Amino acid sequence: MIDVRSMCAIGQRGQLGLNGHLPWEGNTDPVFVEDVTRFFAITMGHVLIAGPKTIASVPEFAFKDRTIDVIRSHEDPEEVLARYPGRRIYVGGGIAVWNIYAKYIQQWDITRLPYDGEADRWFDPAWLVGGDHRIVPT
Ligand SMILES: NC(=O)c1ccc[n+]([C@@H]2O[C@H](COP(=O)([O-])OP(=O)(O)OC[C@H]3O[C@@H](n4cnc5c(N)ncnc54)[C@H](OP(=O)(O)O)[C@@H]3O)[C@@H](O)[C@H]2O)c1
Repeated sequence: MIDVRSMCAIGQRGQLGLNGHLPWEGNTDPVFVEDVTRFFAITMGHVLIAGPKTIASVPEFAFKDRTIDVIRSHEDPEEVLARYPGRRIYVGGGIAVWNIYAKYIQQWDITRLPYDGEADRWFDPAWLVGGDHRIVPT
């Protein structure tokens, strides 16, 4: 079985992103700083696959000690995962990526941060049970 995991941080109501960044970006309270530090410590040495906007916000230093792969919608998810035999793969988002890759994720590491402001990207709890199960009105 391929080792596929995901790690993310959300606000009190599931806020994930705002204007291409973390909604709490720039907040120097230790709880936010430590969360980002922990993300880079835990994913170090592993593979991080994510959409173009998420990767655009990854700092330069993080490219040195992990494999970072910008994934695109035209790519077959199983072919993407098969590129990294024997490696631990972190699915880093964003929304459309988690909608598709959720069914492969065996471990979620989610930190709920003390942020309750604006967002334009939201965590979908359906991902935890393998995908996008929202009811589409007929
Ligand atoms: N809080 C957190 O832990 C966390 C984590 C990650 C991201 N974020 C936030 O989320 C926001 C960025 O996410 P985003 O959703 O806007 O954009 P994104 O990271 O670019 O991810 C979505 C894009 O991924 C591409 N993609 C790759 N494989 C795909 C597939 N199989 N199916 C569909 N699309 C696929 C698509 O781009 P193409 O169609 O162009 O290929 C899609 O538009 C930022 O605000 C960021 O800070 C937060």
